[in-house]
This record gives sequence, C-alpha cells and structure tokens, in this order.
Amino acid sequence: MEIIVCKDYQTLGAKAATMFASQVLKKPDSVLGFATGSSPLSTYAHMAKLCDEGVADFSRASTYNLDEYYGMGPTQEQSYRKFMNDNLFTRINIKLENTHVLNGLTDDPERECAEYEAAINAAGGIDMQLLGIGHDGHIGFNEPCDEFPNNTHLVTLVPMTLQANARFFNSVDEVPRQALSMGIGTIMRAREIVMVVNGADKAETVRKMVYGPVTPQLPASILQFHPRVTVFLDEAAASRL
Ligand code: F6R
Repeated sequence: MEIIVCKDYQTLGAKAATMFASQVLKKPDSVLGFATGSSPLSTYAHMAKLCDEGVADFSRASTYNLDEYYGMGPTQEQSYRKFMNDNLFTRINIKLENTHVLNGLTDDPERECAEYEAAINAAGGIDMQLLGIGHDGHIGFNEPCDEFPNNTHLVTLVPMTLQANARFFNSVDEVPRQALSMGIGTIMRAREIVMVVNGADKAETVRKMVYGPVTPQLPASILQFHPRVTVFLDEAAASRL
C-alpha cells in the first residue's frame, strides 16, 4: 500500500485525477471504477480540467460505479447515477452509454447484482478503482460484518452510515435503508486501486486501515492484501499515521 500525503484536499484530488488520466493514456479502453460521496469531488473536478486541457481522453473508457441506493431512480436528486452524471460524466468526454451504475429501482436485486458482476467480468474486469472510506471503514457499502462479502449484493446500511449520509437529505429518515454495492471481492479484483481520504474525522479510521489487523470489522483493512493500492491523504487524514 503506497501512502501519499498531500498538503490539502485540492492537491490530493489533482494527484488522484492524474492516476486516471495516465491509466487512459496507457490503455484508452480502460474499465474504470468510480465512487460517490464528498471525497472524490476534487478528483472529479481535476479529471474534468485535464479533459478540458486535452490531457486526458476518456472517449474509449467505460465505467462501473461502486454502489447505488436501493429504491432510488436515476433522476432522483440523491441518486448516485445523478451524482455521477452531474459531477463527472457530463464534464468529461466519456460516452454516457459506457457508464454503468446499479439500477436502484430493480424489482429483483439479486438478479441485478449478478448481472452487474457478470458485466464487469465480461468487460475484462476493472483496471482502476477509485474508493473513499466511511468512518466505520466501509468501502463501497460494505459495512463492518463477520465475513467479507464477495460479489455485488444488497446491503442494509448501519446507523453510522445513515447518519453520515443524512447531509445529502432533508433528514436522516429520508436516507434509504438499503443499497446495492459491489462486494469486497469485486473491489479486490480490480487491478489497481486509488483511495482518496480527507479530513481529521477519518484519521483514526485510516490508521486502523493501514496498521490494524485485517478484519471484516473494518472492511478497508483488506486493502493491505491488495498488490497495487495508492492512498492519497490530506494532512488531516494522515495525522494519526
Ligand atoms: C460511495 C461509497 C462510500 C463512500 C464513503 C465515504 O460510492 O461507496 O464507500 O466512499 O461512504 O463517503 P464520503 O466521501 O462522502 O465521506
């Protein structure tokens, strides 16, 4: 695991964006994995800038997002599909039909998850996956539990995550209780992983991820076993290392 401490959130985003720009330069038809939430926003802004400057070309890339709220449609304000369209996909030269987000409105979550997993495999697997981390160490929506979940699956969000995500809704009661998420296996099968973390409130979680035991009780700790992970931290998130 390579840890890169950046002076601030913007610098971290610029460096992480460069990883994705290099990836599509190396392999134009890369399969990229993306995340939502606050952490990747500066990365996405810098990816858009690199694209505007003609440095990054996503025209042949395809993407798979980590997760989507169960019961939420693509046009709903807090859906992850809308988040991705607004914050990245309409701001870079990717073809929208090559972007994939789980269908939160499915009436058969099990089938939706199996088909998503199969689609990733059929595309040749994810070349580079972007991750944030939750306060409880979740990646995707893989919450602390007794066993690492392998494939894409339906998850029930824990109170800490509902509370953390309430900032995007009018109240915590509006946050969907369930989500569809790539599994830990899906994430670990990505050839390369880029994580972005900012803020002092994540410093203790980052410390446990890096130095702590590998345990499904802190799902991100499994990244210690991945051969190619780069973690970009701002100074606050790195303050306990
Ligand atoms: C988002 C995701 C989550 C977030 C995590 C941190 O697609 O899968 O694991 O990365 O909850 O969220 P932020 O960045 O909002 O603190």
